[in-house]
Amino acid sequence: ASDLPASVEALTLQSTTTTSDYPGCFPSLNPMDIYREHIATELSKGTGIDAELIYTRLAWTNTLDKGDLALPVAALRIKKKPQELAEELASKFPASDLVHPPTACGPHLQFFCKPQPLANTVLGRVLNEKAAYGTNGNAGLKDPKDPSKGQKKIIVEFSSPNIAKPFHAGHLRSTIIGGFLANLHTVLGWDVIKMNYLGDWGKQYGLLANGFKYFGNEEALQKDPINHLFDVYVKVNGLVAEHDKPIKELKEEIKAKKEKNEDVSAQEAELAKLVEVSEDEKARRYFKSMEDGDPEALALWRRFRDLSIAKYKQTYARLNIDFDVYSGESQVKSESMTKAYKAMEQAGVAEESEGAIIADFTKHGAKKLGKAIIVRKDGTPLYLTRDIGAIIERDEAYHFDKMIYVVAAQQDLHLAQLFKVTELMGRKDLSDRCEHINFGMVHGMSTRKGTVKFLDDILRDVGDKMHEVMKKNEVKYAQVENPEKVADTLGITAVMVQDMTGKRINGYTFNLEAMTSFEGDTGPYLQYAHARLCSMTRKSELNVDELPSANFDLLTEPHAIDLIRLLASWPDVLINTSKTLEPITVLAYLFRMTHMLSSSYDVLKVIGSEPEVKKARMALYAAARQVLHNGMRVLGLNPVERY
Ligand code: ARG
Repeated sequence: ASDLPASVEALTLQSTTTTSDYPGCFPSLNPMDIYREHIATELSKGTGIDAELIYTRLAWTNTLDKGDLALPVAALRIKKKPQELAEELASKFPASDLVHPPTACGPHLQFFCKPQPLANTVLGRVLNEKAAYGTNGNAGLKDPKDPSKGQKKIIVEFSSPNIAKPFHAGHLRSTIIGGFLANLHTVLGWDVIKMNYLGDWGKQYGLLANGFKYFGNEEALQKDPINHLFDVYVKVNGLVAEHDKPIKELKEEIKAKKEKNEDVSAQEAELAKLVEVSEDEKARRYFKSMEDGDPEALALWRRFRDLSIAKYKQTYARLNIDFDVYSGESQVKSESMTKAYKAMEQAGVAEESEGAIIADFTKHGAKKLGKAIIVRKDGTPLYLTRDIGAIIERDEAYHFDKMIYVVAAQQDLHLAQLFKVTELMGRKDLSDRCEHINFGMVHGMSTRKGTVKFLDDILRDVGDKMHEVMKKNEVKYAQVENPEKVADTLGITAVMVQDMTGKRINGYTFNLEAMTSFEGDTGPYLQYAHARLCSMTRKSELNVDELPSANFDLLTEPHAIDLIRLLASWPDVLINTSKTLEPITVLAYLFRMTHMLSSSYDVLKVIGSEPEVKKARMALYAAARQVLHNGMRVLGLNPVERY
């Protein structure tokens, strides 16, 4: 994602244009801003209404039949019936070279761009700016009109798997959505820090270390650390269960005897012995030695961690993701946690309860958040405690403007408690900068063999399936250069697009057949649309560098005009996405475009057209390909050129 560009509006342009004082207006980056600026200025001239008010109320439309921009006139706060006001404003709008006379449609004033100037601006820009078209490096500036004040900084914390445990669907979604949010902020000019907060600390690592002594194998660890550690983890958990059985039985016996007032001293002695040698107790002791900083214990744990990270990096690379920071529960300093409870105590948030320290949110106007343990009876911190320490450390280390936690909705309560504690500690300034981006569950994620442990297994399985699908078209298949690699990319696209279809909060069922189909709004279909545009360019035998000089006035058909209007709105789609923070905002736009494209091919033929028309149409398709490419890249997809 580091190659994603973000163009910035030239400063000189700002000082020479008088009208770009409108907030968030960057006519050199966003063609629709030219129109907003024009409409606001002209309408203000004709009516005396404040131009900035008009500017800020001009909205994009969901469908092209509602215009390219619409003004809900009620938002102008003029005491008049909106319908009448809309009619009146329509009649007062001066004749314009850029837009048709506006139409009043109920309480809305609809503006349609005149096609030729739009075509020239938009197609020229897309073909020249290429990957930068639609990006807006000004959006992420601390002061959009003064770049010298620097960029805003955002931490996107995402993926965050637990070492030696399965990388489950929740981590997959967090990875996909988090990667997208990082890309989105990058193209909008933010300084983005991608952080992976590993589950890498706790008693289970004591268990794992001991398990490795019994079941571990150095060679297997080096070769495939993630799977090997998971195997060890499963085996040692088997031991725990074995040891637990007699302990549980003995406990029951003691309880029953006590009820009958019988002597239990022999059983209690026996129980103590069993506990002493149990795997669980050994794990606790091992973890205690890690907490106490025992170098040998830490060295083994660190190797597990490092090897796992190295392997995770390979998997993330397949998804176009690289993290800037691998933090984790282990990295939170105990001083930070101590500092946090002190602050909590002072603020009256922390209280003692049966030897533990708890926060009772019900006493602080947050009934729904219940109570949370902050420090256990035995003095050890919890998941929440580490997050409290971490939020403070991150604030000190990065001075971020915003931090996003991309975590499953199952942890809604956890994050709400974290933010509330932070606020109650007197750090509302910090909690206000943090946001939980949640998402629903995935059901039935498994490979065809029925097993699922890790992301790699899933991606391989979907890739294999894609390969089978590709082989069905023998002629096409024979032309693909590296079919395995392409199948892998298509498989990843399939998984990601399925995940990004629908709002984040909705869960979905993992459906291999549906996601790998070329029909419907699927990943393979999106790739097909891109590859088809690439193949068209190859077959046209035109020099792509000459396309910007095409005569765009020749693009007069409704299909061509609508496609241009859609391409014009891409920068607005990105800005809108920065408000929704939903991948579907981008994806739905891309599918609108691919549908429009597929109905255009028969009407707007390239091959066989007059040379000038051919060139103009090819330029239009090349521009569409570019925008499709840009959108796919923001989503984290790798557009393929043929398959
Ligand atoms: N490792 C955790 C899990 O798998 C997710 C961590 C989420 N982030 C956080 N700051 N708590 O459940």
